[in-house]
Amino acid sequence: MDYQKFIAEQVENLKNTVGDAIAINALSGGVDSSVVTVLGHRALGDQLKTIFVDNALMRQGEPQRVVEIFKGMGIGVELLDAREEFLAALAGETDPEKKRQVITDTFYAKVFGREVKDRGAKFLLHGTILTDIEETVAGIKRQHNILAQIGISPEETYGYSVLEPLKTLRKDGVREVAKLLDLPDELSRRIPFPGPALAARIVGEVTPERLETVREATTIVEEELADSGAFQYMAVLLNDRATGIRDNKRQFGQIIVLRCIESVDARTATATQLPWEKLNRICERIVQIKDVNRCLYDLTPKPPAAVEYV
Ligand code: XMP
Repeated sequence: MDYQKFIAEQVENLKNTVGDAIAINALSGGVDSSVVTVLGHRALGDQLKTIFVDNALMRQGEPQRVVEIFKGMGIGVELLDAREEFLAALAGETDPEKKRQVITDTFYAKVFGREVKDRGAKFLLHGTILTDIEETVAGIKRQHNILAQIGISPEETYGYSVLEPLKTLRKDGVREVAKLLDLPDELSRRIPFPGPALAARIVGEVTPERLETVREATTIVEEELADSGAFQYMAVLLNDRATGIRDNKRQFGQIIVLRCIESVDARTATATQLPWEKLNRICERIVQIKDVNRCLYDLTPKPPAAVEYV
């Protein structure tokens, strides 16, 4: 595929479709939404408003860091604090599909819907890619981001049109486009991170305390595996407890799963053969997190497992 041509075509399409209207997009800092942000600003300049929604589910320092990186590229991104709203909506919810649904609804119908209305935006740019569409259509999972393909009209439901300039690409294609758009390595080489963010890595209820546990574990895993060359790596908090011994007392502690995979496009994956020393080191660090006394390494390929746990 000629990716230069792809970029030129998408810029042209966006210009023609949006005309003089206001467009809006949400940036998560993942490679998909980052590429859409740069493409969108190339096509629309200040007519595109880019917002980073802090949904309380992001990694350590992530919202501030992403805003800073884009500032460095001359693209202004507004940071919107919606942490309370997301946490309130997720409280008490344990069903995986419902958790995803709550996040989608809170995002589109509430937080983002309000922004779109307040700013009079007619278009929403979204970083949906081909894999998202295929897996949702196949019924494997409700992806966070493809309302139109599952028969929900965003115009009728939410009052705006969704534009998805990357919907013919897979992850490897998006990375090629990212390179051509001169995205800094910190963004273009970023490992994939799901729309529902850390909520995809908490089995059971999402609470501020449980988020803190998985966030700390995520920081450790990302530090330790940054040089691994793996496609994706993560920490997951299970909804169960295991017996342990702490300060000579029996403790029912939390269980963290380490997942690290090899993949080309996330459609299939196998567990990375990490060196034993590395696994041990990660385990040692993970069980220093408050209340965590087990760390497991997930060997399951996709399929039958998915990459994420929720
Ligand atoms: P699964 O868990 O479906 O993940 O095997 C495949 C790839 O997609 C990412 N993923 C998501 N990305 N929104 C996204 O933008 C989502 O809702 C979502 N769920 C999973 C996952 O991290 C993996 O790379």
